[in-house]
Amino acid sequence: MNFQGQHILSTAQFDSEGMLSLFEEAKKMEKIMIDGGSDILDGKILATLFFEPSTRTRFSFESAMNRLGGRVISNADMMATSSLKKKESLEDTAKTVSQMVDVIVMRHPESGSVDKMAQNSDVPVINAGDGPNQHPTQALLDVYTVWKERGGLDGVTIGMVGDLRNGRVPHSQCDLLKHFNVKFVLVSPDELAMPSDIVSELKHFNCEVVESNDLVKSLPEMDVIGMTRVQMERFESEEEYKKYEGVYVLDPELMKKAKEDAIILHPLPRVDEIAVELDSDPRSKYFEQVGNGVAIRMALLKKVLE
Ligand code: CP
Repeated sequence: MNFQGQHILSTAQFDSEGMLSLFEEAKKMEKIMIDGGSDILDGKILATLFFEPSTRTRFSFESAMNRLGGRVISNADMMATSSLKKKESLEDTAKTVSQMVDVIVMRHPESGSVDKMAQNSDVPVINAGDGPNQHPTQALLDVYTVWKERGGLDGVTIGMVGDLRNGRVPHSQCDLLKHFNVKFVLVSPDELAMPSDIVSELKHFNCEVVESNDLVKSLPEMDVIGMTRVQMERFESEEEYKKYEGVYVLDPELMKKAKEDAIILHPLPRVDEIAVELDSDPRSKYFEQVGNGVAIRMALLKKVLE
């Protein structure tokens, strides 16, 4: 699977072979991080264009580019401070920015917006999250974390807990994990269930899927406890969101029911889904997950730009 010069817009671009080759590259990148960096992307420039808030994804891409010897120009608030404010179109923004850099990373609240950017860009565009649609690099780093922690993916029971209707991360994770022999345990309130087309796709790939709204009952069988937050920004009103606030909270008492060797993941940011007391539980891997994100993005930038 060759990603050189390619846009990275969707998890649909990755099969098991492509993922495993990226994961092997990411392992090499972890060594580069320990050794103090590399100059393999010397002379290359990345633009990060963010139309939605971010801590991890933007810093992670910028850290990755810097660690490989490249440079970064960045706008963390495109909606307010770019010429889009003067009614320039997204298409013209793409044509303009792509004259100045070698690769673009973009986050936007609308599904399909990053594809639109890519269609008008002369350089590769990487999707850093487009509305409720996709967040491919987050899903890649999540699956990489499971692969590293469990020594592989086949035979693993993956729990996904929270707002599975609106969460772009669980959608993207399903699209990657369907290529492996994994079982899915999907836990959400009925109204926030995983979209039925995604569940059908998992079954089409012969994955076993169990849907539930009871975390207490479902927890003991999970090897991976994938917590997610209720996606406040995707609700029509605060009142609607409040109905689901605190619906699932993982705490030390509940974790007594989990496997001794289960791992807890979360794409972060967390609101209240994981009690802070669990941060010192050796099963909690969500901050290591962030570090794995830098390695995955280094690997991806190398593959796209080399
Ligand atoms: N996981 C994630 O996308 O975090 P940020 O919103 O902080 O980038």
